[in-house]
Amino acid sequence: MNEIARQPKLLKDYAPPPYLIEEVELDFKLAPRAARVASKLRIRPNPKVATGGRPLVLDGEGLALESVALDGKALTPSDYELKEGSLTIPRAPAHPFTLELVTYCDPETNTALSGLYLSRGTYCTQCEPEGFRRITFFLDRPDVLAVYTVRIEAEREVAPILLSNGNPVAHGDIPGTGRHFAVWHDPFPKPSYLFALVGGRLAKVPDRFVTVSGREVDLAIYVEPGKEDRCSWAMESLKRAMRWDEERFGREYDLDVFNIVAVSDFNMGAMENKGLNIFNDKLVLARPDTASDADYASIEGVIAHEYFHNWSGDRVTCRDWFQLCLKEGLTVFRDQEFTGDTRSAPVERIAAVRMLKTHQFPEDAGPLAHAVRPASYIEINNFYTATVYEKGAEVCRMLQTLLGREGFRKGLDLYFERHDGEAVTVEDFVEAMADVSGRDLSQFMLWYTQSGTPELACSLDYDPHAKTARLSVSQVVPPTPGQTKKEPMLIPLKMGLIGANGDELPLKLDGKGVVNDGLLEITGREQVFEFRDIPSPPTPSLLRGFSAPVRLTVSLDPEQIEFLMRHDKDAFNRWQAAQTYATNLLTAASREGGDLSRVTGKEALRLAQALGQTAGDSSLEAAYRAEFLKLPSESDIARELARNVDTDAVRAARESLRRTIAGEIGSSLAELYEAIAPQGPYSPDPESTGVRALRGAALDLLVATGKPSALARAERHYREATNMTDAISALAILSHLDAPARDEALAHFYARWQDEPLVLDKWFAVQARAARSDSVETVRALLSHPKFSLKNPNRVRALIGSFVHGNPTGFNRADGAGFELLAEQAYEIDRFNPHVAARLLGAFESWRILEPVRQGRAKAVLEALARRQLSTDSYEIVTKTLGPS
Ligand code: PHE
Ligand code: ZN
Repeated sequence: MNEIARQPKLLKDYAPPPYLIEEVELDFKLAPRAARVASKLRIRPNPKVATGGRPLVLDGEGLALESVALDGKALTPSDYELKEGSLTIPRAPAHPFTLELVTYCDPETNTALSGLYLSRGTYCTQCEPEGFRRITFFLDRPDVLAVYTVRIEAEREVAPILLSNGNPVAHGDIPGTGRHFAVWHDPFPKPSYLFALVGGRLAKVPDRFVTVSGREVDLAIYVEPGKEDRCSWAMESLKRAMRWDEERFGREYDLDVFNIVAVSDFNMGAMENKGLNIFNDKLVLARPDTASDADYASIEGVIAHEYFHNWSGDRVTCRDWFQLCLKEGLTVFRDQEFTGDTRSAPVERIAAVRMLKTHQFPEDAGPLAHAVRPASYIEINNFYTATVYEKGAEVCRMLQTLLGREGFRKGLDLYFERHDGEAVTVEDFVEAMADVSGRDLSQFMLWYTQSGTPELACSLDYDPHAKTARLSVSQVVPPTPGQTKKEPMLIPLKMGLIGANGDELPLKLDGKGVVNDGLLEITGREQVFEFRDIPSPPTPSLLRGFSAPVRLTVSLDPEQIEFLMRHDKDAFNRWQAAQTYATNLLTAASREGGDLSRVTGKEALRLAQALGQTAGDSSLEAAYRAEFLKLPSESDIARELARNVDTDAVRAARESLRRTIAGEIGSSLAELYEAIAPQGPYSPDPESTGVRALRGAALDLLVATGKPSALARAERHYREATNMTDAISALAILSHLDAPARDEALAHFYARWQDEPLVLDKWFAVQARAARSDSVETVRALLSHPKFSLKNPNRVRALIGSFVHGNPTGFNRADGAGFELLAEQAYEIDRFNPHVAARLLGAFESWRILEPVRQGRAKAVLEALARRQLSTDSYEIVTKTLGPS
């Protein structure tokens, strides 16, 4: 393995490129085994770098070089150095010049799905972060921005559709050859990672959008022929996103066309290439019978996300890959705001925080912890993480909280205006926010540079004589790999004090007047806030709306938490109180081997009562009520335990609490289930989605009673389902059971959907997630199913990904069989698609929180894997996960 590739790259080593490429003309002749790429580059020395005969080092991987010419003169091999990874011209001119290259690449054997590859016969590209170098030699780094003109030629039979970035300029036949061509021009300078090309036999679903200033834009979604009837939701979502970005952030679209292409083989979710977004088809295709409400929601969210990148990422891009959060954190924040505005703000907030806590908190607490802006990486592909995306979004949200909505909007306007067409840094972004607000945000910068989740400990003391309440706050940022000492951070703490009758008390701070919007700014390690005129002991509601990505501990007794779960006016915190109440019971029971009866009697019943009451409260949104009925997940509980985790005990504790709750409120859940049964045809609108979610959550709990009537209800739910949401939620419920109903439903589902890849993925996933003692064996058997293939990332994620990330008891089985399965499959995948393999291996990140036996097994499996030949991607994950030995 290439040792140089394994040297960490450091942020502090950033140096601007010695040359700039300002114009690019590309000419593609598509062919499966040898696609010809002729490239003409207008290059000039970078005036910001003292040049003078600097070597020009172009990146290139796996390319066959045919010719090089400089200013029209052919170069001979003695004029350049060709190595794997680069093409160097040692004596490049100190004045502007033209470089012409002809190279070939091989789309058909491109199994890494980076660069130019074939997905079910369609030519497509993926260039972020470093795929362009697998297409042609280039300065493949985001701070080199060029204007692209692209000509594509192919057999008309094979590829009647030819697309690239920007606007269409020309197209036509090449008479007598059966070939045709198309020319595209993108007037906006862009880095190479945003380049895209598509060629294939695709069906076009067209639409139109008129922007706020009257610009007419041709929209199109391209899909495999026959799937045109599954595009309307994606198209409607796109138009909603375009309108919303105008209204909320003043961002208008800027080209004549906006194209989306759906492909079946894709490493990630989707890609924001300028004017030509390429999507995993899972995030485009939806029809009521094939896609669930959750699918509809992700499609809407990701379509919006990629569209929003047009400004946050494309018009203003990143200087280097250390700045990845600059576009991803900001764009996730923007898509979350869109979803909150379009659907329900509290439910969206709950979903975002669940996501953060499930994926980012463990990352921040484990061996792969890194800052939102990391200072070093071995393989940048490994840094498309929950920390960069989800915590990155929280950092933007905190800026909005601190500056106010208007202030944040002004800051963002200034950022876009100031840096349009540039490749910039996190400092540039924060500086725009500082400039519009007049605030010093230097302490805030720690959110980008310090890793680890801050721990915020709060306590409230009431003085009945002085009628004051003192809130003591202390913060600790735990040590993380490579960062032992931490500075205190600026933490926006939204809070309220609630009086005995449930009313909000005014927050009068001694000496400082009334606290605006309940927002406190924590800046030191220890701080005390004293509130005056508090008539009786209040209950504090802290970190409202989850105003900062921290772990909060508050000393509250169960009665106070129960009070909050019934009365908090902050919808997020009201939900959080229910979760906290349940988590306290579940962690205690898990420590007792899963035996709930040893830690609680009445608390579990009081929780049941409160949940039942909220679930039945029709003045609340159905989707919100559904969130109440979902108990903390097994991984939530494990994360809170933080050490010595026995996943079987966790599962036993959770099952036993579910049984207790269902036993207590089962009859009201059954009534609710019947009362809200939807009538009429399926619609994916937020209200009907919420009702289905509430019904599904009620059914899920009901089945925990183990009563035959509940099982019969689940069977009926499956049988009578008229849409995928109901079918898959019933199938998931049945999948855990040892009952003929399970096998029958699975067989029925398979028979119906075996030829629909995206639906069949659900069949694989449901079995991989089933909480059963034989799940490792089930997954193993499915690996040899005729419909399983390691080559398709969606199928791999459906079976192996669902198992390792979504089945904690199965994956962490005490005999190590789950670990072995992952190690062996990831190794196989690593040989042809390192990116997908490395992501799967991320499932080992929490091995150190396990009890000693499981820990020992995980360690042994990781050590054995580290001794094998691994890609740079997997090598980085495995060695960092093991940590210093
Ligand atoms: N930039 C893509 C996004 O929107 C993610 C991605 C990264 C896709 C790398 C492909 C490869 O978030
Ligand atoms: Zn993104």
